[in-house]
Amino acid sequence: MIGKVISAESDRITARILLDDIENINMGDLLIIESRFKYLARVSSIFSKNIGEPNLPDKIAVLTDRIDDMESLFGTQFYYAAECGILGVLDSGIKPAKTIPKFLSKIRKAESKDLEFLLKEGKNYIKIGRLRNMDLPIKIDIESFITKHAGVFGKTGSGKSNTVKVIIKEMIKHNIPCLVFDIHGEYGYKRGLGGMENVIVVGLPGGECDVSLTVPLQMIKPGDLRVMTTLTEAQEDAVALIHKRYGGKWLEYISQTDTENIVSEFENKIQMTTVLALQRKIGRIVDYNFVGRDFNSLNYIRDKIRQDKVIIIDFGDYEHDDWAIKLITSVISRFLLNKYKKYKKEGHKTKETLLVLEEAHKLLNVDTAKKTVFSDIVREGRKFNLGLCIVDQMPHKIFEEVLAQLNTVIIMLLTNIKDREHLVLSSENDLSDFKKEMKRLDIGEAIITGISVPFPIPAKIDLFSLSRSKKENFDQFEFNELDI
Ligand SMILES: Nc1ncnc2c1ncn2[C@@H]1O[C@H](COP(=O)(O)OP(=O)(O)O)[C@@H](O)[C@H]1O
Ligand SMILES: [Mg+2]
Repeated sequence: MIGKVISAESDRITARILLDDIENINMGDLLIIESRFKYLARVSSIFSKNIGEPNLPDKIAVLTDRIDDMESLFGTQFYYAAECGILGVLDSGIKPAKTIPKFLSKIRKAESKDLEFLLKEGKNYIKIGRLRNMDLPIKIDIESFITKHAGVFGKTGSGKSNTVKVIIKEMIKHNIPCLVFDIHGEYGYKRGLGGMENVIVVGLPGGECDVSLTVPLQMIKPGDLRVMTTLTEAQEDAVALIHKRYGGKWLEYISQTDTENIVSEFENKIQMTTVLALQRKIGRIVDYNFVGRDFNSLNYIRDKIRQDKVIIIDFGDYEHDDWAIKLITSVISRFLLNKYKKYKKEGHKTKETLLVLEEAHKLLNVDTAKKTVFSDIVREGRKFNLGLCIVDQMPHKIFEEVLAQLNTVIIMLLTNIKDREHLVLSSENDLSDFKKEMKRLDIGEAIITGISVPFPIPAKIDLFSLSRSKKENFDQFEFNELDI
């Protein structure tokens, strides 16, 4: 026993902690409260208290250099306590607690045998690590993790990408198709899953890959330009007019036609300065060497995903090019969402498919989130079995409506108070109990909350290691087939 219940209210209790045990109790520890039911609780804060005169702490303050032992002088007027959230009632599994434990119910640390239900095998789970300080696996429900969307947040170096690599490796075992936007080249050949069976690295120049990425010009829509850069009202109007007339060839038209000709063709509805500004912006897109006229990697990606493969888009030399990042992630994701919508309409089955977006704040910030396809995916992807996992080191920059749609949240070390506050305020999961713990996590430690876990899990994520079995023999595919 480490203490007893001294107060309780709905879903939380305060525990008196025995003097000798105070330093054995950590934030986030799981505790068992034995009352009529067996409650599972989690330590959310630890503190010292005193009874009696309000100025008692001041009296000690002036005596500190003369006394070593509080007990002999002040008896039990000083004590330690911990506040704990009740996670549920244990009974062969875990159920929501509808009662509170009695005063002075005994409290002890949870042990593996209390949570044995986590060991039950099931084929719809992935295992990504262990419960902290316990020899029990963390199991995540695949279907709800994917289709109800997830977020992995933590400061740089806290272990986010490692976590996602472990998740993807598990998805591969379960034949779940994934598409990873690997902005910093961590998931492919350098330190990642490149070379594993069923993994295909599709790369931009500068990174090692299996096939190179080519985005056809026709697949770039006016909306993509809006995500990449701010357009003035006049530019918006001009793009709308030109797109209406030229459809999929709008980019070619703007970049290849003389400025004066555009102005005269549109009977002066478009100003010269507007055309010049657009030509400058569009010139940058057309000049990208991954933007092509004939080749189309999108069909290839779609086909491989339909065969349950994992596609890693390695951004190579473009890891710091925000325009390229926004363009590629938007075009590919929209293509996939549209295909999944079409499959559904035609009555074809689609398997749950996971999209992973690193550096999510570049697209899902307050200014651009609503303009991107990713908002559509978090809103309606579930209907088509398409789910999003966003990964970010600065969650305070993510639009709150997007955060609210993430039903699984994996929190790693967050030292910035703005990040912690924003997550707690925006998430549908009640994260307030973890606020203090978020800034105390070690590398690779996480709090996993939400719909795909039975209760908020204090986790130690496995360290990713590669099990390269066989390099796939990349089949030739029809590059020129444009199926838009
Ligand atoms: N679960 C873990 N166990 C042990 N070490 C880890 C774990 N997660 C991360 N690390 C270490 O921390 C480093 C940074 O992790 P990484 O996942 O790249 O962080 P982030 O993506 O948050 O910047 C890794 O290279 C690895 O050495
Ligand atoms: Mg990372």
